[in-house]
Amino acid sequence: ERNGIARPPSGVGLDGLATAAAGCRACELWEPATQTVFGEGPPTARIVFVGEQPGDQEDRKGEPFVGPAGRLLDDALTGAGIDRRDAYITNAVKHFRFTVKGKRRIHATPGAEHLRACAPWLQSELAVLRPEVVVALGATAAKALIAPSFRITQDRGRLMPWDLPGLPPPPVVDEADDDEPDEAAPAQTWILATTHPSAVLRTPDEARQAAFDALVTDLKVVAAALA
Ligand code: URA
Repeated sequence: ERNGIARPPSGVGLDGLATAAAGCRACELWEPATQTVFGEGPPTARIVFVGEQPGDQEDRKGEPFVGPAGRLLDDALTGAGIDRRDAYITNAVKHFRFTVKGKRRIHATPGAEHLRACAPWLQSELAVLRPEVVVALGATAAKALIAPSFRITQDRGRLMPWDLPGLPPPPVVDEADDDEPDEAAPAQTWILATTHPSAVLRTPDEARQAAFDALVTDLKVVAAALA
């Protein structure tokens, strides 16, 4: 079956987008999945985390990063001094892609066609949020948001200036007409890519603590940028 491309409604806000995404049929992943797992967090969030796709538990609960990877992310955020409740958390693909092995559902990496079909939802989320910092968790998000050639191992942990895809720059409305920067319109969005929490979980015992610490180090860069 050929995949389409999601067509999010405009002007409906995050809740309206979530409602529309619940009925998305732009690719075939909706059918075996339990539900669409849309992003979650306050519309005022200055920081957006983007993972790959929901996992088994996220698919069942309908919320992003609430399984084992989510618990590791929570620990890393705590280590970096970031409050998860201040962040918006979402995924590049909003349905769980899996293969069945006996009673288990095994994660399958989303293909380019699933990323393409789902991309308009992420674009719409970012257009509403206009965050100051976007954090790409893992290679799938980094390749989708930065460039297909992006290499996490080489370029992780660096804040890079970034334009929201498909958006004109934010309007500069400075009604006070003074020299103060306009707080309502952040001049620049930044992006930083780091390891996916699941990659830390998969790291062999002897290297796992170092992998976790490296994730926290990267997240501290984000915390410092927002301070
Ligand atoms: N892994 C992800 O990339 N996203 C989730 O929501 C959960 C696990």
